[in-house]
Amino acid sequence: MADKREKFGGRLAVILAMAGSAIGLGNIWRFPYMVGEHGGAAFVFVYIFATLLISLPVFLAEVMIGRRSHTNSRDAFARLSRQHPFWKAAGYLTILIPTLIACYYSVIGGWSVEYFIKSCGLAFVQMEPDEASGFFGAFVSSTWTPVIMHLLFLGVTVAVVAGGVKSGIEKFSKISLPVLFVLIIMILTYSVSLPGAGDGVRYLLHPDWSELTPRTFAYAMGQSFYSLSLGMGAIITYGSYVSKKENILATSTGTAVSDLMFAILAGFAIMPAVFAAGIEPGAGPGLIFQSIPYVFSKMGTTLPVVSSVVAILFFLAIIVAAMTSIISLVEVGVSFLVERAGMSRGRACLVLFLICGSFGVLCSLSFGPLAEMKVAGMTVFDLFDWVCSNILLLLMALLAVIFVGWVLPRRVVHDEFTNGGRLPFNERLFPVVYFLIKWVAPIAVVIIFFTNFML
Ligand code: TRP
Repeated sequence: MADKREKFGGRLAVILAMAGSAIGLGNIWRFPYMVGEHGGAAFVFVYIFATLLISLPVFLAEVMIGRRSHTNSRDAFARLSRQHPFWKAAGYLTILIPTLIACYYSVIGGWSVEYFIKSCGLAFVQMEPDEASGFFGAFVSSTWTPVIMHLLFLGVTVAVVAGGVKSGIEKFSKISLPVLFVLIIMILTYSVSLPGAGDGVRYLLHPDWSELTPRTFAYAMGQSFYSLSLGMGAIITYGSYVSKKENILATSTGTAVSDLMFAILAGFAIMPAVFAAGIEPGAGPGLIFQSIPYVFSKMGTTLPVVSSVVAILFFLAIIVAAMTSIISLVEVGVSFLVERAGMSRGRACLVLFLICGSFGVLCSLSFGPLAEMKVAGMTVFDLFDWVCSNILLLLMALLAVIFVGWVLPRRVVHDEFTNGGRLPFNERLFPVVYFLIKWVAPIAVVIIFFTNFML
């Protein structure tokens, strides 16, 4: 069975597919609002630090688990631990978590679809700048449109997943990421030139260390894992498609660095606009959706054609980036249902559509009719996000590094990291990486995990 698994076509294809999973709403939508809610530049610094020192080793650990076991994330732990009951149970978590994330991820995907449709009708270009930042509130609190958009977005995603790994995923990432990159640079250039934008740039560059609380660490770590698609089985599943000849250090570092770059650039594109428009940086999940119409409407006053084209392409690129990410979330569950429950790909996709569709509706309504329904002070949407990003993600990432650092024999880890001793650079780096995986990452993640409950 294992030998029939498809493989990616080469180094670039691996990085593109993994970057396709990593780069998504996490970078463009979530990162800026996390920065705004958790301390500006101080958060950015902690985030970069955490990504390089902790997330990258976790990433390597997950790729190793996937490639070594050559199977989906649930069976990977079981197979490599020779069916140990604890690791079998842990494997189930890796199916549950991405499915939970997909529920609310597709709500934000749906918002992007709505904004895309609106920009095709030139709505933002024609609005007054002040009116533009208010558009979001009216849209998100309405009942039907966000729900329909969420289901539409999820439906298309599931249809793509039904098409298979290679045809579905690889083609998508190749075009969307470079386009998105260019557009973000364009928006960034314009955004920093807006009157009042300087405060936004300063906000991102000059840390106010008094903002650095335990909370900053907890959310920065969660954001970093989230953004790299870690702790979920997504990278484990992708790892199982990586060929034995691939240098996993190169592919993992390539993915992590491009992901980091997209997040930072998105921050610099959005924050100056937030300050220019007089929006509160801690406005929450709506931050980019509140500030970006302002950018397009301002741009529209002098450059209407450019603004209309950039707006349309920007939302289209976000939709595609979001889709390549949510595909990797859905793929985890699908691959499990196909290989373990013997379902056809089509049916497995339908099951995921029904589950994520229903929970997603609740998340969507929590911005409007269900806004007052709170659990532990959080709306349904915030609760889903918090439980996934700050709790389950950390827990699963911890299990992955413990597994690679303490359960797998050192020889196996060495073998995976150096391709059986054939990669001299990796050979030299191995003791450092192994130390990070075995000691630094688990200890840091445990501390940060408990920080979440002491806030
Ligand atoms: N990393 C993606 C983003 O930044 C989201 C994502 C895709 C994800 N797959 C994941 C997050 C797996 C956690 C786990 O948008």
